[in-house]
Amino acid sequence: MASKLLKLTKFINTSSKKISKVSIFSASHIIQTRPFSDTPQKVPNTTTSSVPPFHEKNYSLDGAKKPISSSLNPVELAKFSAIAETWWDPQGPFKPLHIMNPTRLSFIRSTLCRHFRKNPHSARPFEGLKIIDVGCGGGILSEPLARMGATVTGIDAVDKNIKIARLHAESDPVTSSIEYCCTTAEKLVEEQRKFDVVIALEVIEHVAEPAEFCKSLASLTVPHGATLISTINRSMRSYATAIVAAEYLLQWLPKGTHQWSSFLTPEELVLILNRASISVQEMAGFVYNPLTGRWALSDDISVNFIAFSTKNSE
Ligand SMILES: C[S@@+](CC[C@H](N)C(=O)[O-])C[C@H]1O[C@@H](n2cnc3c(N)ncnc32)[C@H](O)[C@@H]1O
Repeated sequence: MASKLLKLTKFINTSSKKISKVSIFSASHIIQTRPFSDTPQKVPNTTTSSVPPFHEKNYSLDGAKKPISSSLNPVELAKFSAIAETWWDPQGPFKPLHIMNPTRLSFIRSTLCRHFRKNPHSARPFEGLKIIDVGCGGGILSEPLARMGATVTGIDAVDKNIKIARLHAESDPVTSSIEYCCTTAEKLVEEQRKFDVVIALEVIEHVAEPAEFCKSLASLTVPHGATLISTINRSMRSYATAIVAAEYLLQWLPKGTHQWSSFLTPEELVLILNRASISVQEMAGFVYNPLTGRWALSDDISVNFIAFSTKNSE
């Protein structure tokens, strides 16, 4: 199995290098990636001169404000409802998220500590921060955020997920303080809720209208607060790895978990966040090493990537 994986990785690496060079080159006027280090690298502002070739219905071309529409995609939600019981099974369908968790938490810790001037070496670096985990699923990210001292709200559109999350969190006094709620970001906007940090990991590719969803995330974020989004790039490489390999060859995920056409490129994400008054400050990629079975932070954003952004002042 290990040698098969190695061969597959080699094949994907060689064939995708040419492709990712082209796409990153063509995007280089919009976004820069950086070798992951502790030195923050600014992402230049995008201009709004071109309308991207996706979800054009999300854009109000005359600049008029549209009411925030629902982010719910019933087909996607049904998939998550069907496997809700398996959230805390480390060998189940959410195994990739479980093994990715330490890596994404490391990015979240370093970017938030730098932005909010917190000590990244403290046991509870997020003390004093109000964080919302949008699309929290069974709470596999909400729980470590609470352990790091944050006041955490976890929301998900699937009621079963919230029940599982609550049940799991109750077993530990630190995590039992998490406020879990079956709702959507747009509903909390109506309730005028605000958070220092808004996090939506691996959610945007499952929502009905990504641009509207980002506007809701922006409205939930206090001015100068932080928004973190992770997702999968719409690249040839992601088709080969996140769909063909993960769903069909390795069967890590149930078949049909992801729709390639719903993925956003980093450039598209930067653009829709800009339009929602959120500026992307830095990005990192997540790469999987089949030999160690671990994920690591990287400057390669051709498949899985995360963006750290800040809300502009109002
Ligand atoms: C791939 S899971 C990611 C879970 C979690 N963020 C993580 O990374 O561990 C996507 C989650 O988003 C939820 N979801 C999808 N659309 C949503 C929406 N419009 N509002 C809130 N939650 C949503 C799903 O129910 C599911 O739990």
